[in-house]
Amino acid sequence: MYNDKPRRFDYVEKVKLRVGDLRPGMYVCELDRPWLETPFLLQGIEIKTDTDIEMISRYCDYVYIDLERTKLVRVDLDAVPVGSYNNERRLVTLEREIEQASSARESTSNLVKSFIQEIQFGNSVDIQLAKAAVSECVATVMRNADAVMFMTQLRSKDEYASEHAFNVCIYAIVMGRLLGMRTWELENLGTCALLHDMGTVRVPDAILNKPGKLSSEEFEIVRMHPGWGKDILMSGRNLFTGTVDVAYAHHEAINGSGYPRGLNGTQINQNSKIVAIADRYDAIISARPYRRARDHLGAIGVLNKMATAAQLDMELTTSFVSYLGIYPPGTVVELSTGEVAIVLETNPANRLKPQILVIRDGSGQPQERYVDMSEAKLATSNQIYRITKVSQPDEIGVNLGQYKDAILRAMG
Ligand SMILES: [Fe+2]
Repeated sequence: MYNDKPRRFDYVEKVKLRVGDLRPGMYVCELDRPWLETPFLLQGIEIKTDTDIEMISRYCDYVYIDLERTKLVRVDLDAVPVGSYNNERRLVTLEREIEQASSARESTSNLVKSFIQEIQFGNSVDIQLAKAAVSECVATVMRNADAVMFMTQLRSKDEYASEHAFNVCIYAIVMGRLLGMRTWELENLGTCALLHDMGTVRVPDAILNKPGKLSSEEFEIVRMHPGWGKDILMSGRNLFTGTVDVAYAHHEAINGSGYPRGLNGTQINQNSKIVAIADRYDAIISARPYRRARDHLGAIGVLNKMATAAQLDMELTTSFVSYLGIYPPGTVVELSTGEVAIVLETNPANRLKPQILVIRDGSGQPQERYVDMSEAKLATSNQIYRITKVSQPDEIGVNLGQYKDAILRAMG
């Protein structure tokens, strides 16, 4: 079993970064190779000029920056009021991060798929592998959360279980970040979130994917999945008890109306409360055989209702909803010009004017154009750009996945 709490005295809060993303003010505390294999005399470098970056690039592809000693970054990260977006918080740009976010999504989802297979074969899973994958997810959130938030909007029909696990993991990490959790706490939380629904592997597909309403007997079976999840994770290699707690408690409610134990708010641990919100949000915006997906605004309406009814934690829900804002990255919108666009990055100064990728012109013809809506000069003819509608990608035939390269082209 590994420790879920590192020793505080030797703990360094660090973020993995490509050398190309280094900027003056950052403090490099670790390289992708031993210091002794480099000419650097001290085991730690404060980046002062581009020459320092150039020097490091001769020896390394990746480095780790120490957030405590990185003055610039420390200010950026800590100056952010809880629950709000802020440009300064982005360590790297969206176009620099999108590939890494994409690869974190792929490897994490693939790991979940392999876990599901192992469980189906009756084998145990290695929790340490999950934690390693989650550490990449935490790193990408820390570098630029918009990139990986965009990734959570990509949906493929037959991959619900693994995509849901990844999405809940990312949303939970984002919420933990809003609470000021440190990297190791985020990794623990993300691991709990990634594995929260492993118990559903034992629920027959005929029930999980039933197009209609469940009978009370079928619902009883669904209600077994937190207990099954607990058993599966208890028998996992490199047991981490946090995952067991969250798998068992993620359907509990603050007012005691949840299952399987009917715990109340004081009996539910914080990670379980966070995962519950992340889980509900992703479930609501996902299409399932028994119901259509709701859009983002519909989903935050449901979350608010559930928090008001004391099913979800009010404070955590408010913080998450306020972070997501009205148009989170990956939202497909229609503009006053009749164009269709994808939201790429939010604009902290004006949430109604994000940066977008226009993918269809006013007559429905495909195009690729990057627009920063806050720059009024970019309005066409006499029309000011304004978002008029949020659309469901499926309903207007938009496949978000195909636009990853277009984003790189448009922004690059
Ligand atoms: Fe669940």
